[in-house]
Amino acid sequence: MDGNEVSLSIEHVTKTFPRTGGDELVALENIDIQVKDGEFVCILGPSGCGKTTLLRIIAGLESKTSGTMSLRGKDISEPGSDRGMVFQEFALFPWRTVRRNVEFGLEVKGVPPEERKKVSQKYIDLVGLKGFEDSHPNQLSGGMKQRVGIARALANEPAILLMDEPFGALDAQTRNQMQKELLRIWQETKKTIIFITHSVDEAVFLADRVIVLTTRPGKVKTIHQIELPRPRDRASQDFINLRKTILDELEQQRQGV
Ligand SMILES: Nc1ncnc2c1ncn2[C@@H]1O[C@H](COP(=O)(O)OP(=O)(O)OP(=O)(O)O)[C@@H](O)[C@H]1O
Ligand SMILES: [Mg+2]
Repeated sequence: MDGNEVSLSIEHVTKTFPRTGGDELVALENIDIQVKDGEFVCILGPSGCGKTTLLRIIAGLESKTSGTMSLRGKDISEPGSDRGMVFQEFALFPWRTVRRNVEFGLEVKGVPPEERKKVSQKYIDLVGLKGFEDSHPNQLSGGMKQRVGIARALANEPAILLMDEPFGALDAQTRNQMQKELLRIWQETKKTIIFITHSVDEAVFLADRVIVLTTRPGKVKTIHQIELPRPRDRASQDFINLRKTILDELEQQRQGV
């Protein structure tokens, strides 16, 4: 598949949740997004606009109310190993070692131990955790825990990585470090990535394309193609200008303009 083929196709997707009392809450309205194979897309939007809901629908953890969604031409209706999810709160199994956390999905799939070990070692090395295979999550820093989360998602060899504010719980320095690491991993694995964040700075640093959603119900407000050369320089005038444009847009959303 070449770099221009559509990987993820989201068409007219709407999601409503029932509310007590009989009315309903419209979380997402008529979302249309086409993501190319190998593309890095960041999604920004005010709190409660439906970002996590959208990611959960892509992951197959939540149903959509209407519209269509497909990955590499295949309808999405349930979870599958073609999609790997990385959560903000790490969501690791505390009683499992790093290796056994990374191998979890492979165990579920019934992959034999020898093969599991080969695959988990590959991704443990890729995320820079060599030497920590036998540690437990409580022996790791926040950044290291999130590396385990990324390795675990990659171990299933998904077509697409779904990341919901994965670096939100990290201090600023670790966060910047993890952004660079993620870009390296992205370039090495050529995965498609959908990355949700509250940080405009993070989105402009990482993404090929930034999609801004409106206040709930979430609709696509604007799409910014980020043409800045990589590695990106946060101090460059182009970076600063772009960050300001998107920050202003989000501020308008907050004020309901
Ligand atoms: N399972 C659910 N049942 C009912 N309502 C829900 C459910 N999940 C989400 N919602 C509602 O849908 C809306 C969107 O929620 P969602 O978590 O997707 O927002 P978000 O954009 O991820 O917000 P944040 O930036 O704060 O993480 C919210 O109003 C929320 O209350
Ligand atoms: Mg959320």
